[in-house]
Amino acid sequence: MSMAELNQIGWDEFSGLSSIEKAPYFVENGRSFHALVAQQFSRPMLEELCALATCVRRTAKTREGSAFLQQQLFDKRAMLYFAQPSSRTYLSFYSACQIVGLQTINVRDSATSSEVKGESPEDSVRTFSSYADLIIMRHPAGGFAERIAWMLSNTSRPVPVVNAGSGKDQHPTQALLDIYTLARSFENSGGIDGKKVAFVGDLKRGRTVRSLAWLLTQYQGVKAYFVAPPELQIGDDILKQLDAAGMPYEISRDFAKVIPEVDAIYMTRIQDEWDVDNESSRVNTASYHFTKEHLNILGKDSVIMHPLPRRLEIDPAVDGDPRAVYWRQVRNGMWIRAALILSIFGCDGAVRDYCKEHQL
Ligand code: NCD
Repeated sequence: MSMAELNQIGWDEFSGLSSIEKAPYFVENGRSFHALVAQQFSRPMLEELCALATCVRRTAKTREGSAFLQQQLFDKRAMLYFAQPSSRTYLSFYSACQIVGLQTINVRDSATSSEVKGESPEDSVRTFSSYADLIIMRHPAGGFAERIAWMLSNTSRPVPVVNAGSGKDQHPTQALLDIYTLARSFENSGGIDGKKVAFVGDLKRGRTVRSLAWLLTQYQGVKAYFVAPPELQIGDDILKQLDAAGMPYEISRDFAKVIPEVDAIYMTRIQDEWDVDNESSRVNTASYHFTKEHLNILGKDSVIMHPLPRRLEIDPAVDGDPRAVYWRQVRNGMWIRAALILSIFGCDGAVRDYCKEHQL
């Protein structure tokens, strides 16, 4: 399917599709035009992006390579539209744009835009999109980035939209950097295939978990463990997708039992910004914290991950352990986002060629 079809489907019909059904509308010839849902990334696409991220990382090491990367998109502008608190994802995208030479314009707070004059958010973004060649957006409303992509595809100037976190549902670029981190961590032990990955914490409202769980279905023989109090367990919609994809998983409340069994532990914070009535304060989550003692029962080649920001769920005393890779995740995010942007603009081939020529 090609992009043309996004303007041939009404919003009501489109928004009623599952993420899996929406995916083909965002991808053209194996390359993302929009990056909106984890379900649009196939295994070959993931592998290509990871390889490209490595290539960008190596190229950026020299002044010459850095200048080469910056030439790629110096004539383009990205709009960073972040209508929800963000510092790391915002800075990660901002840095990724700088690496590939993209100039940036930004809206950090929709309260400073004409939305306070009663303009609809759709009109605001449409106006801003006139100045930009790419929109990178974070929004508290699930599906808002998709709505913008659909709306712009019905204009004479469709612009790619990248979802930098939408509501409680999706955070596809975080999932990409998580995959890149897993791939690098298991580089010498068979890659992601066959690994066991535990997700711990607020799985109900953690959009990073929802996106990453799906990406893991693209690998062979991966098993997931969802470790959380029942009130914060992962949604049935995701479990149904995993069932359909044939990925085995276990639902558990016993964190200590799961730790020695898995290759990766993905910790998350309680997403209480979504509480309606302070309900998460009534859930006891203390037994879902990773402590220094847990290091003794964790496999020697296993890794501990976290999308950050963290609260109490990982004791800072764990940070110095080589298996704690959450700071590496942050850096990997910058590289894979740069790779994604290059690929959206079709500059991936040039960068790959540079790497080959310079034997990087
Ligand atoms: C996550 C998010 O915004 O969903 N943060 C991030 O982008 N790294 C996780 C979180 O806020 O807990």
